[in-house]
Order: sequence, then structure tokens, then C-alpha cells
Amino acid sequence: MELIGAGRASQVFALDEGRVLRRADFDVSDEARTMRHVREAGYPVPEVLEVSGGEMTMERLHGPTLAAELIAGRIGGTQAAAILIDLHERLHRIPAPEWLPGAPRGVDLGGDSLLHLDLHPENVIVTDDGPRLVDWTNAARGADAADFAVSWAILAGVEPDDFGAEADRIATELGGLCAALAERASAEAIEAAIAYREADTSVEAAEISRALKKAAAASN
Ligand SMILES: Nc1ncnc2c1ncn2[C@@H]1O[C@H](COP(=O)(O)OP(=O)(O)OP(=O)(O)O)[C@@H](O)[C@H]1O
Ligand SMILES: [Mg+2]
Repeated sequence: MELIGAGRASQVFALDEGRVLRRADFDVSDEARTMRHVREAGYPVPEVLEVSGGEMTMERLHGPTLAAELIAGRIGGTQAAAILIDLHERLHRIPAPEWLPGAPRGVDLGGDSLLHLDLHPENVIVTDDGPRLVDWTNAARGADAADFAVSWAILAGVEPDDFGAEADRIATELGGLCAALAERASAEAIEAAIAYREADTSVEAAEISRALKKAAAASN
């Protein structure tokens, strides 16, 4: 099987032109349930075809990730921000099912909206039919602002120097993106998002401290 994507928690294999298999080391039935729920509401998410334990067979999306487009300079920070914000706003309008957990990782995110909580450019695939959102592992209930704040915390933790010769351009794009997201996240939501990220042991402490420093600098 051809490996076409790998994250921290799973591997994605192409089965054929129309299907992928995502293999995770945790049960994905709740995640699949959320994906089916939002798809029914017209949200741009791949169709779930089959679920068994940690394995999910789903519709294969064709196109680069929004992260790849940003790094290549084909999509700029302003357009990327518009895409992320639109995906947030459309999601938050879908009623959250009552079986969706609140207070993920023990952190109260306020509110009662359906949140993705991992909405960043590597989880957005830019297809000919528009951007689509993958990786629904973290979906939970909370305030809209908390979802924006988690996206902000993830992007504020990215180190532009990791992009070598492109570092300055990436820093500018990220700065614009973070500002647009922070505008939609209250100070309270930023605090909750940082607590939520800190509660994830797989996130590097260095990433979080970078985000915290940026938050402190922005509030001065
Ligand atoms: N339906 C799909 N069609 C095509 N490619 C996909 C599909 N789903 C996921 N991918 C690719 O695989 C990558 C990893 O998938 P996903 O984000 O679901 O895994 P993950 O391990 O949960 O990621 P993370 O590291 O964010 O936890 C995605 O960034 C994307 O490039
Ligand atoms: Mg991912």
C-alpha cells in the first residue's frame, strides 16, 4: 500500500484512486460518527466508508494540503486565513450532537458549539471542489472562540526558522494568520486553548512556550 500521509497519530495509505485507509492506534468510531454528522449537514469532509477499531476507510481527496500551498507560496497568509476562518464559521453553525464530549482533556472550553480543535493548514486539503477538512480526532463541544484559539496556539508554536531560506516569508504569512485567528479568540479562550494544548503530552513544551511568548508580546 502506498503511504500518502502520516501524522503524529496515524498513517494514511492510498487503497486506489477513490479510497484511503487511515490506520491509528486508537479507536476511531467516535471520530467517524462526527465526520458523518458534519457531512450530513453539508460540511466539506471526506465520506467515511468503513470503520473498524483504529482503521477508517474513507473517500480519497486529491490535492495538496493548505500547508504545502502556503510553503510553496501558491496561497498567501491572507487567503489561508480566509480559508481557515470560513471552515471554522461553517462548522460552528452545525448543531453539536449531544453525544459529543464537552471539556476535552478536562479543560472547560465554554459554550456548546461543535469544535474541530485541530483546524490548521496540514489538516486542510485543497481540492478542485474547494478546501476540505480532515483529522477529526479532537472534535468536542465548546465555545467558537476556543476553536479559533486552538488554531492560533498551534500556528503560534510553529518556528519559521525551520523553513530555511523561506523563514522570513513564512514568518510574515504566519504573523498574518495568527493575527486573524487571535482576533476571533478572546483572552479567556486563548488561556483555555493553552491549557488544552498543555494537557496533550504529545505536544512539545517548546511549541507551547513559543505560543505563550507570542501571546504575552501581543498583549503588551
Ligand atoms: N481522505 C484523505 N484523502 C487524502 N489524503 C488524506 C486523507 N485524509 C488524510 N490525508 C492525508 O494524510 C495526512 C494525515 O492525516 P490525519 O491528519 O488524519 O492524520 P493524523 O495522524 O491524525 O495527523 P496529526 O499529526 O495531525 O495528528 C493529512 O495531513 C493528509 O495529507
Ligand atoms: Mg493531521
